[in-house]
Amino acid sequence: MTNRMPRVPLAHLPTPLQPLERLSRALGGPRLWLKRDDLTGLALGGNKTRKLEYLLGDALQRGADTVITAGAAQSNHARQTAAAAARCGLRCVLALSPMAPETTTGNLLLDRLLGAQVRWTGGRDRAEVMQEIAAEERAAGREPYVIPYGGSNAIGATAYFEAMHELVRQSRQAQVEFHTVALASSSGGTQSGLLAGAAALHDTVRILGISVDEPAGVLAPRVLRLARLVIEHLAVRVDVPEEGAMVVDDYVGGGYGVMGEPEREAIELLARYEGVLLDPVYTGKAMAGLIALIRAKTWRREDAVLFWHTGGAPALFAYQDALLRG
Ligand SMILES: Cc1ncc(COP(=O)(O)O)c(C=O)c1O
Repeated sequence: MTNRMPRVPLAHLPTPLQPLERLSRALGGPRLWLKRDDLTGLALGGNKTRKLEYLLGDALQRGADTVITAGAAQSNHARQTAAAAARCGLRCVLALSPMAPETTTGNLLLDRLLGAQVRWTGGRDRAEVMQEIAAEERAAGREPYVIPYGGSNAIGATAYFEAMHELVRQSRQAQVEFHTVALASSSGGTQSGLLAGAAALHDTVRILGISVDEPAGVLAPRVLRLARLVIEHLAVRVDVPEEGAMVVDDYVGGGYGVMGEPEREAIELLARYEGVLLDPVYTGKAMAGLIALIRAKTWRREDAVLFWHTGGAPALFAYQDALLRG
């Protein structure tokens, strides 16, 4: 099923579905697979590229000439938005928090190369700063389009409703039935889209969000609400059950953007067993959580478990010292 929402083609799809044979063996099972959304293309890729196909589709339909979004200094979402705007010939203004770091590296370096304007929030509320920028843009005679934090509204999350359909097609082809899809979850758009997609397909796969910052009590209701909004937005007649919004928050470690030993181990394992790069903020943390769950025998050896790689590797370069310390 494909929807009729306006969409700009930005991503190379479908992204590969890849077995992690060496890592699965090293961990003693289950059978691990990776969905390579780090390879969506567009300025080093990541999960936001899919969302931006719909968000910029909407922006262009509304006649916008400038996109505004927000994130942390090493935001992958900001970098991909800058790239998507460049590709569509739109201006891009980024509200980044909190202050300019000493070194312009990783995603922040790429934001500059991609021609985005950067405004530092100084720790102020990001949504408020974005509205201020939008007002300035309007006063200058431009037509701004504000993309919420993480691109996580019903429009952005629709991309992951579609991505779930893509995965189901691929897993049929590969003749594998996934018990669980695990992923890094933060603003919740990716998880909610997948959850809505699974509900629409009546697929019983568990979609497990591994929180990188917030408590499950905050993130799970947000995922559920957003999944139901996606269903409403697409006018699909299906219910998303409350118990479908599964979130674990045991692996937040030192908090958002803090890389500790579990994250470093996960990054090294994927690099050394599979030649795959994770990132310190999202996928490294989530994979550390997945590995801990595997060691706790959450799955049987013969179960197939998919980790949805959501990208983020450009941030590795901003964590050079922490990575080398191990
Ligand atoms: C690499 C990476 N993984 C996962 C996420 C989380 O996705 P979501 O905000 O849709 O929960 C992000 C969000 O910025 C990200 O950059």
